[in-house]
Amino acid sequence: MITGLITTLAACVDPEARPEKSEALPYESTVTTPGIPAIPLTEPAPAEDLDPADNAVSFRLEAAPLSTLDDGVPTESYAYNGQIPGPTLRAKVGDTVTVELNNGLGTATTLHWHGLGVPNLMDGVTWLQNPIAAGEGFTYSFTVTAPGTYWYHPHVDVDQQVDRGLYGMFIVEDPGDPTPDRELLLVFDTRDEAGAGDGHTAPDPARQVWTINGLSTPGLTLTAGERHRVRVLNAANLGYLKLRWPGMRQIAGDQGLLGALQEPEAVVLAPGDRAEFEWIAEQDFLVETEIYTASGGEALGDTLALLPVTVTGDPSDTPGLDWPFAGSRAETEDPSTELLFAFSGGAASEDWMINGEVYPDVSVSTLALGEVAVIELRNLSATEHPFHLHGHRFRVLSIDGEVPAASGWEDTINVGIRQAIRLELVADNPGDWMAHCHLLAHEEGGMMTVLRVE
Ligand code: C2O
Ligand code: CU
Repeated sequence: MITGLITTLAACVDPEARPEKSEALPYESTVTTPGIPAIPLTEPAPAEDLDPADNAVSFRLEAAPLSTLDDGVPTESYAYNGQIPGPTLRAKVGDTVTVELNNGLGTATTLHWHGLGVPNLMDGVTWLQNPIAAGEGFTYSFTVTAPGTYWYHPHVDVDQQVDRGLYGMFIVEDPGDPTPDRELLLVFDTRDEAGAGDGHTAPDPARQVWTINGLSTPGLTLTAGERHRVRVLNAANLGYLKLRWPGMRQIAGDQGLLGALQEPEAVVLAPGDRAEFEWIAEQDFLVETEIYTASGGEALGDTLALLPVTVTGDPSDTPGLDWPFAGSRAETEDPSTELLFAFSGGAASEDWMINGEVYPDVSVSTLALGEVAVIELRNLSATEHPFHLHGHRFRVLSIDGEVPAASGWEDTINVGIRQAIRLELVADNPGDWMAHCHLLAHEEGGMMTVLRVE
């Protein structure tokens, strides 16, 4: 995700004075009736590190069907280690990571490390490799080199498998960062009212409920003055978030700290996006989302309550932590290559396409190892598309010609209708890398291509 491009119509609205919205909305509000306590927010349990060595972590995941959600709702979900979201995997920069996956799903799967620069054969895609068959296992291993809030999910029948619950956070810590009083993980997803999967089975937003860490009506209690590092992931198949709360302090995007602290009015998180924030709460507040859809942003201009936060203790005026922000980006080197990815299709009976091609019948774009390239994304279709590139990170040079403020490293960027976005990347990871829309139905519908680094 990217900061600096968010305009909001609500800048002058006093949140206290906002009328009660839940009755007027065509959406099911996820906030409980005032006076009735919300379910206390819990976090996805972390995976146990099975390697005692200091610079190595080792995890074991078992993918299997799950028939009941945590809150007792019957479901036809899939889960890693019986939990949705899957276990949080945590490593620090420089660690060797080993993950053994056992496939108990009864159907083929893989693991893809969204955003991590893993070796090509560890990327979990099926362009040149077979997936892990039902009943089989595979051990992934790679070294993590860049801090950030990443995630993992299958890359086979992605729309179906992610929708059913196969996803989890993967955190790479930078030991040089200041230590907050507490870290908080918020993994957003949608599910339909019946409890089973989300987006692609019930594309009607009126039947969708947002969940945070798998809970549909969570509430949170914090202590005044405690400094929180809040890591946020939108793992939904097609639901967009436009998050807001009073006094937002954004510190990081997909991959580590931004150039500088950003204080936006709201932050759009497309499917696949991550962001990090600092919370130093002094009084109760509400995390909410403006209604935002792929078919044109702020569709209804309204908001939906997601998480009421109750703050205990006395206000203390605690200052923020001293984050080692990178400062503004150095001037772009002259790129040796420019690539264009144009998004089109989606009209009645049309496929979703990049450069007029439908995956897997695509022409492979090629970059030389080590070269600096500019990728221009152009959206010619009637919906927005979150673009994601595997194995690399990029910086946003411009959005419709405008340079974003203090951006950091990204791997997922939403491209608005008719927008043109220019990205800079260093082609530093050899192999064949998928580049696709992260609206998973679009990806499965053909909006995916291959970038070869050789
Ligand atoms: Cu998160 Cu190719 O995907
Ligand atoms: Cu798309």
